[in-house]
Amino acid sequence: MYLHFRFLSLVAFVGAGASIVAATGSSSTCDALCLEVVQNGSSWEIDQHASRDFSFYATPSNFSFDLSPGSLITVEPVTQLLNYSIPSGLSMSRIIYTTNDLNGTTLPTSAYILWPYTPLTTSGHKDQGYPMVAWAHGTSGVLRGCAPSNYRNLQYHFMTPFLLALQGMVVVAPDYAGLGVDTLPNGQKIGHPWLSGPAQANDLANAAIAARKAFPDLLTADGPFVAMGHSQGGGATWAFAEKQVKEPISGYKGTVAIAPTTRTFDHLKDAFSNITEPWAQVIIAGQPKLISAVTAAFPSYNYSGLTPVSYDRWFNVLKPLDGCLPTDSLAFTNVTVDELAVPNWYDAPEVQEYAKLAENGRKKFKGPLLIVSGEADIVVPLDTVESAVDDTCKMLKDEHWNESLELVTYSAMDHFPSIQASQMKWLPWIKDQLTGAPPPRPGCFKSAVTGIRTNDTVQTATPNFLEGWASAEENEITRLLAYNPLTGL
Ligand SMILES: *[C@@H]1O[C@H](CO)[C@@H](O)[C@H](O)[C@H]1NC(C)=O
Ligand SMILES: *[C@@H]1O[C@H](CO)[C@@H](O)[C@H](O)[C@H]1NC(C)=O
Ligand SMILES: *[C@@H]1O[C@H](CO)[C@@H](O)[C@H](O)[C@H]1NC(C)=O
Ligand SMILES: *[C@@H]1O[C@H](CO)[C@@H](O)[C@H](O)[C@H]1NC(C)=O
Ligand SMILES: *[C@@H]1O[C@H](CO)[C@@H](O)[C@H](O)[C@H]1NC(C)=O
Ligand SMILES: *[C@@H]1O[C@H](CO)[C@@H](O)[C@H](O)[C@H]1NC(C)=O
Ligand SMILES: *[C@@H]1O[C@H](CO)[C@@H](O)[C@H](O)[C@H]1NC(C)=O
Ligand SMILES: *[C@@H]1O[C@H](CO)[C@@H](O)[C@H](O)[C@H]1NC(C)=O
Ligand SMILES: *[C@@H]1O[C@H](CO)[C@@H](O)[C@H](O)[C@H]1NC(C)=O
Repeated sequence: MYLHFRFLSLVAFVGAGASIVAATGSSSTCDALCLEVVQNGSSWEIDQHASRDFSFYATPSNFSFDLSPGSLITVEPVTQLLNYSIPSGLSMSRIIYTTNDLNGTTLPTSAYILWPYTPLTTSGHKDQGYPMVAWAHGTSGVLRGCAPSNYRNLQYHFMTPFLLALQGMVVVAPDYAGLGVDTLPNGQKIGHPWLSGPAQANDLANAAIAARKAFPDLLTADGPFVAMGHSQGGGATWAFAEKQVKEPISGYKGTVAIAPTTRTFDHLKDAFSNITEPWAQVIIAGQPKLISAVTAAFPSYNYSGLTPVSYDRWFNVLKPLDGCLPTDSLAFTNVTVDELAVPNWYDAPEVQEYAKLAENGRKKFKGPLLIVSGEADIVVPLDTVESAVDDTCKMLKDEHWNESLELVTYSAMDHFPSIQASQMKWLPWIKDQLTGAPPPRPGCFKSAVTGIRTNDTVQTATPNFLEGWASAEENEITRLLAYNPLTGL
């Protein structure tokens, strides 16, 4: 049977770059109509990019494996915002810095910093620096073009980064290793270990450390910060809370994880028990990206899980387009479940090893930890989140951790709607932690919020209020001024 690709795999819609011509003709399985579908998706993606010029993400020649994680390589103090849709009052910077992979190997990567107009007041301590939210994004894709710092709307726009900065918080947001900067000075490619909470937690921690080094007047070495993420980024922040146990970063005040991934490979195996379930189709469609992720961590695995058909789509359709969501789903148009991945590919030893290294949850963490889940989430279903919470809570009680873990679920909300539905919970929660309110009580707490009129709201597994981009030529005021500058508003 065919998968229904209207369900885009784990998270947000965003973009790629590069030559459309390159893909045409070289695929043996994607015909002219198929290529047109993919190219249309790719054109849409490219239009979401702030710039088609990726020179900011070029291999930094002075990168060295000897640099410690969290070292600064390049600072762009002021990002030119002409082609971004950043709200007025806010400003932006980008950095290239070092992170470390699952093996501890140092790698170069990038992050953006979104600055508020004026900071949220934090208990009167001016010398503490501005309050920060370390933001971990959900899936954008696994290739170079998928760095949120080059999306006009930073991928999550008013759902999180714009909102947080408008509310007075500095947003420090890693692109993640392999996205943006994708090549080492020796020519070796940097793969993206997709849905590996601990690897993305390294990227998040090192971004916060490097951002403080880049802007020491604004972000002091022990200024207050909270980690927050969604989907892949929820897994990253949960892992970040775990990383705080052994490698604490000064100023840490807590973690928010919305729709966090936990044990992705178990979830994938469950999906094969009924592949027509909408949630099963989402994770099944994600297999090529998972196969690429395993190869990023274990190069010798070398995409072994791809079939001849999916190998052709990955290397001859998707890669030449440098495609991200949604192109990386469209590139597999009309590929059957049997053609998408080798049966039981996840039983290979490298995959099992990756699954173990990549998971988060069911480990000691430093809280407070607020977890949010939509009860109708088909991308990261509530039962996957709740079982990880229950197991972690059992450990918390049995081992007397003295930490706070709260799970709040939202009726009838899917993967992105849960971010909006829960805003009334997490926004004040974050501000409380940053401004020195008493921390939540130790222990485990669960509650369910029931929305009103939920049958009448927009439900979607993909981001809803996506912004369209109006070029200067399409802009109504620009046109008015061009016709008659004197009557221009
Ligand atoms: C996918 O397959 C269906 C059914 O065979 C066909 O109608 C459709 O044109 C195909 N789509 C593309 C983009 O090839
Ligand atoms: C691709 O986009 C063009 C222009 O918007 C449109 O006319 C065409 O129908 C699209 N093709 C497919 C296969 O969706
Ligand atoms: C903004 O976009 C335009 C049109 O795509 C492009 O020509 C220009 O170089 C971009 N500016 C920057 C600063 O990237
Ligand atoms: C790397 O080079 C850039 C300019 O190309 C420079 O600004 C930066 O300080 C250098 N970083 C290190 C760690 O040497
Ligand atoms: C499989 O899932 C579909 C769609 O949710 C459902 O209609 C069907 O009953 C399920 N089949 C089994 C055997 O559970
Ligand atoms: C760690 O490094 C070893 C030796 O270089 C390599 O074989 C292995 O694939 C790496 N593992 C991960 C998870 O990066
Ligand atoms: C991976 O497999 C491809 C095709 O099967 C082969 O050409 C390539 O050399 C392999 N790469 C590595 C690193 O083993
Ligand atoms: C437990 O944590 C709270 C803060 O959340 C602290 O006030 C209390 O002293 C801690 N108790 C123990 C036994 O460490
Ligand atoms: C919402 O829709 C469901 C299923 O379509 C229906 O059973 C339920 O009664 C509706 N609830 C309200 C309040 O209309």
